Amino acid sequence: MTMRKTIIAGNWKMYKTIPEAIELSSGLKRELFKLEAQNVDVVLCPPFTSLRDVYEAISDSGIQLGAQDIYWQPQGAFTGEVSAPMLKDAGCKFVIIGHSERRQFFAETNEAVNKKLKAALEYGLTPIVCVGETLSEREAGGTFKVLEDHVLNGLKDLNAQQVLGVVIAYEPVWAIGTGKTATAQQAQEAQKYIRDLLAKMYNKETAQNIRIQYGGSVKPENIREILKEPDVDGALVGGASLTVEAFVAIIKGASEVNK
Ligand code: 13P
Repeated sequence: MTMRKTIIAGNWKMYKTIPEAIELSSGLKRELFKLEAQNVDVVLCPPFTSLRDVYEAISDSGIQLGAQDIYWQPQGAFTGEVSAPMLKDAGCKFVIIGHSERRQFFAETNEAVNKKLKAALEYGLTPIVCVGETLSEREAGGTFKVLEDHVLNGLKDLNAQQVLGVVIAYEPVWAIGTGKTATAQQAQEAQKYIRDLLAKMYNKETAQNIRIQYGGSVKPENIREILKEPDVDGALVGGASLTVEAFVAIIKGASEVNK
């Protein structure tokens, strides 16, 4: 029996115009109301442009809002960036930080991840920090080394109290958008490694209370199997979070897994 509440987050990536975002989020609100999956935290992370409309569409539903990125300065001459107070203002409670697509395509470093994390925490946002290895890193036997690097440097200087306000998402890069899900055993092995590392960095009790999600080709068909693993506390869902039917089926599956 774990104390960690399951958290299912939808990362919409660069999909959905405002009308499409409103349609998807109001459809989710309607269906999830019927489902009454109160044992699952549900978070939607649309693009910046539709944050406010989605916030309004999910009002009074228990569904929570998150952003996909953040900049660490509160304000200033940083063209194109969005700050923590701005995300709070738009209604966000969560923010994804260090997604592999940002690391790969936008040269985001652990140092940047660490600064973003601190800014999010300072303003009361819950960061969802993404970590995970590429295929070549896995094939070279470097999975744990990469996880250690991402976790140690990403969470640098955070104390035990602060780290309790963080969600970690293990997303093996080779499983993202490829249809190639990690096996439940592979997810568990990596996530246990992360939790053991957190226990060393902080203490056992703190590590036991941090939620670690799995992400990478999560679908209604595989959510149950993955969530049954003891160190998998939820999922960060890309493609399958873009339709009401698939995302609701994932949440339904998650709500039925008892640990
Ligand atoms: P997919 O679910 O589309 O594989 O994406 C996973 C992901 O990157 C979530 O952040």
